[in-house]
Amino acid sequence: MSNVTRVSAYRHLQECDLVPPGSSYVFFEPADTEIGVWVAADLFSEGCCVLDLGSGSGAAAAAMARAGAVRVHGVDSGAETVAWARAHYASPGVGPVTFAQGDFSLLSSRELLATAPAPLHRPLIVASNPPYVPLTEGAAALRRSISGAQDGLKWAPAIIGHAHALGSDLAFTIGSYSSPRKAARMLARAGYRIESVTLCPLPLGAFTLAHMEQVLDLEGEGEAVLWRAEGREPSYFVVGLACHRDGVDGRDAGRLSGSGARLTEDGLMAVLRAAARSRTSHLESLDEPGAPHVPVPLRVLDLPHAAVRHHW
Ligand SMILES: C[S@@+](CC[C@H](N)C(=O)[O-])C[C@H]1O[C@@H](n2cnc3c(N)ncnc32)[C@H](O)[C@@H]1O
Repeated sequence: MSNVTRVSAYRHLQECDLVPPGSSYVFFEPADTEIGVWVAADLFSEGCCVLDLGSGSGAAAAAMARAGAVRVHGVDSGAETVAWARAHYASPGVGPVTFAQGDFSLLSSRELLATAPAPLHRPLIVASNPPYVPLTEGAAALRRSISGAQDGLKWAPAIIGHAHALGSDLAFTIGSYSSPRKAARMLARAGYRIESVTLCPLPLGAFTLAHMEQVLDLEGEGEAVLWRAEGREPSYFVVGLACHRDGVDGRDAGRLSGSGARLTEDGLMAVLRAAARSRTSHLESLDEPGAPHVPVPLRVLDLPHAAVRHHW
C-alpha cells in the first residue's frame, strides 16, 4: 500500500510570508522554505528547540516555533538577511525566536550555540535548508545565496558535522539535481537514518538554466535527478530529509515509519527516479504499479509557485 501523503497548500507559512521581502538580498523562495518547516516538524518532540543554520528571512524559524518548537535560533551569514529576520520575525526580548549573524562553516558547534541569547536545551534539532545549486566556480561567485559549489553539497559536511557534534537529529534539505546519493551516504556515515522524505517539484530558476554545466555533469554521472515532463518547464525536486541520529537519547530509530527498515541511498534514488516519471506535479508515478517500496513516510508538496524569487 502506498504511504505517500500529499499537501497542496501552504500550511506552515502565512500570507505575510508569501510576500517577497523588501530587500532582494533576503532569500525568497517560499516552497523551499515551507519544505524545511515540514521536515523539522517531522522530528519534533515535546519541548524541543531548533538551531536553524542559514536561516534566511526568518520565516522558517518563526513557522517552526508556531509548529511546536519551544525555541528556535537562526544563524545566517548575511547582514541584511539577519537584520530583516530580526525586524520581522524575532520575538521581543529573549523570546522563542532569535537570530544571530555568523558563518556556520567557520564557527565551532559550541560557538554556534553561544550566538543564542539564552541556552538552547534538549531535545535539540539542527535544521538547514542551505544553498544547494550545483554551479561552476565562476557562476557560484555570482549567486552566493544558492550556490552549493560543484556537487551542490558544499555546506553539507559542516551542517552534518554540527548536528553530529551536538548529538542532534537533523532536518536537511537538498536539491534532486545536486548529489542526492552522495548526501544519503554522508548522512549514513555520520550515523543518521532517514526517517521521512518530503518532495516538492520546482521549476529551475533562470540563473540555473543559464548555468547548467554542473547539473548536466551530475545527471550524466547518474547522481542528479531532473524532472523533464512533457509540456512542463525543466524542474527538479526539493528533497527534505528528516534524519534521526541512531542511538541518541535512547529513542527508537524508525519511530516515524513504525518499522526498523532503512531508506538506503539506492532507495532514495529509486524514489526520485520514480517521481521523475510523473506527468503532473502530483507526482502520481509514486503510486503507480512498479513504484518502489519506500520504507519511510513520503510526502509530496504540490504548491503554487511564487512569481518572484530572491536569489543573490
Ligand atoms: C537557500 S537560503 C535558505 C534560507 C532559509 N533557510 C529558508 O529556507 O528560507 C540559504 C541561506 O543560507 C545562508 N548561508 C549560506 N551560507 C552560509 C554560511 N556558511 N553560514 C551561515 N549562513 C549561510 C544564506 O545567506 C541564505 O540566507
